[in-house]
Amino acid sequence: MRNLDPVNYVSPEIHREDVKTIFAATWQLVCPVSRLKERGDYVATEIAGNKVFVVMTRDGIRAFRNVCRHRGARLLPEGAGRCSTLRCPYHQWVWGEDGSLLNVPFWGDDPEFNKDDWALDTVAFDTWRGLLFVCLAPEKTLAEQLGAVVPELQDEPMETYSWMQEERLVFDANWKIYTDNFVEGYHIPGIHPEFHRAIEFDRFETTAHEGMVRMTAPPREGLFYRGKWLWMWPNWTLSLFEGGMNTSRINPIDHRRTELIYNFYFADTSEAAAPKRAKTIADNLAVVREDFEVCLETQKNYESGGYRSGPLSPRHEAGVKYFQDQLRAVGAR
Ligand code: FES
Ligand SMILES: [Fe+2]
Repeated sequence: MRNLDPVNYVSPEIHREDVKTIFAATWQLVCPVSRLKERGDYVATEIAGNKVFVVMTRDGIRAFRNVCRHRGARLLPEGAGRCSTLRCPYHQWVWGEDGSLLNVPFWGDDPEFNKDDWALDTVAFDTWRGLLFVCLAPEKTLAEQLGAVVPELQDEPMETYSWMQEERLVFDANWKIYTDNFVEGYHIPGIHPEFHRAIEFDRFETTAHEGMVRMTAPPREGLFYRGKWLWMWPNWTLSLFEGGMNTSRINPIDHRRTELIYNFYFADTSEAAAPKRAKTIADNLAVVREDFEVCLETQKNYESGGYRSGPLSPRHEAGVKYFQDQLRAVGAR
């Protein structure tokens, strides 16, 4: 069992392949459905550089490319907000919520121009248990992609948790370096000493099948995590903590820069519980940030040419092997 060749983490060409064969072809977690409550509520984001947005319309949710059909400007800034119509900031073309082009100011006489020809490009979307996914070029259904996470969480009352907060963290390493790190608990003693003291590390278990890596460890007294961390192909995670859960999407900005988009959900949304929620989020993000330095320095070693593929532990790196096997299946070298 060998680690993937470092070329896969450093090459801009391979990254372009990743975007096409992985990020465009798979369902990508955008946000909880609950963020689109009222007509006009939208969330705009990037899928490995491809700008998209989801919006609540009179007829329900719609998803579009966040790309103007005129000369390609971005229609909505990344983030969440509310709009009634969509006006391109560049030359102010206006679209309705259904994506149809409504108004083209200052265009002039042009018998060849027909507004009906320039509707926004739509994007496929689907939902699962309150989570909204989009896919640029679907090859499978969302249910097929989800695989083992569906039975895994069947008894978890996800729908009873309310979305409370989104956090975005950016660091300078390839998305696969971070994923290799996320899908193993082997680094917990070295990188997360406090977290290590809070779990029974000897009983840390990793299993991997049907698009999911499942890591569990019995928590000791005082740990905010519930001892179950899930990663799903190709790039999203779900972890359970006391009174709630988080999700994250591991999104490449380019071949050596990655953003994590974390969302936090809680059962208790009361004002009285606000300090406890804030602490859970802060503790959680502190553990996430502890991984960045090792990812950055590993990235540099891969880039330097000074690293050749090393061995993977059967006991602790089955998740890394599983993720890398999926990468090999879609063309990694
Ligand atoms: S690019 Fe949007 S109106 Fe021109
Ligand atoms: Fe970690």
